[in-house]
Amino acid sequence: MISQQTIQQILSRIDILDIVGSYVKLKKRGANYLGLCPFHNEKTPSFTVSPSKEIYKCFGCGKSGNSISFIMELEKYSYVEALKWLANKYNIEIEETYVSEEYKQIQQTADSLYILNQFAQKYFTQQLHQSEEGIDIAKSYLKERGFTDSIIDKFQLGYNLNQRDAFSKAAVQEQYNPDLLLKTGIVTNRDGHLVDNYRGRIIFPIHNQSGKILGFGARIIGKNDRAPKYINTPENEIYIKSKILYGTYFARQSIDKLDECLLVEGYTDVISLHQAGVENVVASGGTSLTTDQLRLVKKYTNNLTIIYDGDGAGIKAALRGLDLALEEGLNVKLVLIPDGEDPDSYVNKVGADAFRDFVNANKKDFIIFQLEIQLKDAQNDTHKKAQLVNQIAETIAKIDKAEDFTKQQDYIRQCSQMMGIEEEGLTNLVNKHIREKLQKQAQKQANQKGAQDAFIPPPEDDSFVLPMDESEFLLLLNKDEQNERALIRCLLEFGLKPWDESKTVAEYLLGEINDNDLVESANLKHIMEIYEHWYKEGLEPTAKNFFYHEDQSISTLVVSIMDFQHEVSAKWSEHYDGKIATREDLYPLEIKSCLTYSKLRKIRRLIEENQRDMANTTDFEQQILLLQTHQHLKQMEMDLTKLVGTVIL
Ligand code: UTP
Ligand code: MN
Repeated sequence: MISQQTIQQILSRIDILDIVGSYVKLKKRGANYLGLCPFHNEKTPSFTVSPSKEIYKCFGCGKSGNSISFIMELEKYSYVEALKWLANKYNIEIEETYVSEEYKQIQQTADSLYILNQFAQKYFTQQLHQSEEGIDIAKSYLKERGFTDSIIDKFQLGYNLNQRDAFSKAAVQEQYNPDLLLKTGIVTNRDGHLVDNYRGRIIFPIHNQSGKILGFGARIIGKNDRAPKYINTPENEIYIKSKILYGTYFARQSIDKLDECLLVEGYTDVISLHQAGVENVVASGGTSLTTDQLRLVKKYTNNLTIIYDGDGAGIKAALRGLDLALEEGLNVKLVLIPDGEDPDSYVNKVGADAFRDFVNANKKDFIIFQLEIQLKDAQNDTHKKAQLVNQIAETIAKIDKAEDFTKQQDYIRQCSQMMGIEEEGLTNLVNKHIREKLQKQAQKQANQKGAQDAFIPPPEDDSFVLPMDESEFLLLLNKDEQNERALIRCLLEFGLKPWDESKTVAEYLLGEINDNDLVESANLKHIMEIYEHWYKEGLEPTAKNFFYHEDQSISTLVVSIMDFQHEVSAKWSEHYDGKIATREDLYPLEIKSCLTYSKLRKIRRLIEENQRDMANTTDFEQQILLLQTHQHLKQMEMDLTKLVGTVIL
């Protein structure tokens, strides 16, 4: 992991105008800068950068964030990659630090698995090309299916001999660790001996986006009903099925260029299409798509075209995941390959050009497609049809991003025509679903209490609005939580200032909060802990360090805490020698006031609890004890209330 020191060094150098400005032409407009949004197509600029807040927001597409998220989004970098990019830009040397043992362990296992897989791939490829059995049985089978030498090489196909432990022996001889070997799934344990799992099978290595081998698919040669056609790598530290699409490494550039990703079911479909020159293609392995897989596609394009054989079970599986795709904002099209063919056999039969023409001519919108099949299925059953209307409204409601409004309108028009219902009726139903969804979201936000992005309409003037509506959000909070937030805000804002001769505000405040357990919100506690951790490491944490925190939920929360309107109360300024006071002048007072409020609340709650206990106990001695506690708490309450006379709540 990159050390916090390095991160802070990078953050101190970041200039959002410089970073965004190298991608977007910016013009000054008031306190902010304006340009054409790099994340969506627009003719009039609605992409705003606030240099003082060090954030950007597009009022067209709603994207917002800081310098790091900008780089992440535009370059498709991870958080760490973005930091490395910035470090390189500003000539900052990266210092790596301590990582947790558990994380280190996983990393080490992952690294070892990659190395083992690479060894295995080389071994299997060698068997395919050099062993007699490989050449006679496996290679000839691949040739028979029409695969060329160069495509076999490109996809690093291989073969494992039909022997008990040919690979196992080779791996053990190279001193590879047996436990790791078992994890790869290539070998298995039979009565204490390592034996091969993929005997007599063609091996398809599965690469990640940067070409490292995650695992394998192992296909039986020819037809055999007694064994599974493919055996795949079991889940381990690097093979996580829900995150993998076969072929991304070979397809990504073509997907980027053509702005479309074709999705097929199988390994051989991908390989045959590549051989025919159709390279923007990946495979799902025939299961329903997961959100992680859809996000992988979305890194490269918004246009997903699914090509499946019409009568297979695969199409049903694929359709199941597709509402997720709408939520991810993908445009999904479907093409069915006719007559019991699959993409592999079809492209071999008709050739690349005809294949491409067929796909382009038969691409159907996913929503329309789904409706077509279901209408056929429902026929004249009005009950089924009513269900269908509801279901389609729900699906259409999932496209409710501002920029997709016309798309939604189009769907409503087309679908109502197909179903023979009034357009207005469907519109109402769609709106009802959207409202329901928003309500659910609001509910969820209220429950979480932490601040999350909420959509806000573009402002009338060019003032800069943060990606959440504070006034609405504030209403959701109770006074106790507001006070807890105020404590954390004091910590972030004034923590490094002196409290008295011997302590900083941070030392005093953290001590008080911890001793009395004053912060109850888990989110705020988390922020406090991070602060404390950084502080103890000798770093100087400020709100800015939190704005750039890797965990988006933390940065959003801190933005919302820091952006409250803080007015100096009129009463406070009276206390301050007649001078017009600022919050800067008054921070000790503000801190005292917040602490007193929190302590008082806490005492009052303890009193209530104690009273409840008193009411519930019949044991005399217990009652005496509780009574003493009560008196003690009451005294504390009184002392605090006197204090309140001098500070304002
Ligand atoms: P298919 O049966 O369509 O295989 O399964 P295929 O890729 O077209 O292979 P060929 O053309 O018959 O040689 C589609 C995908 O489903 C997964 C594999 O990923 C396969 O590529 N699958 C299928 C399995 O994982 N296990 C199986 O037993 C069968
Ligand atoms: Mn096939």
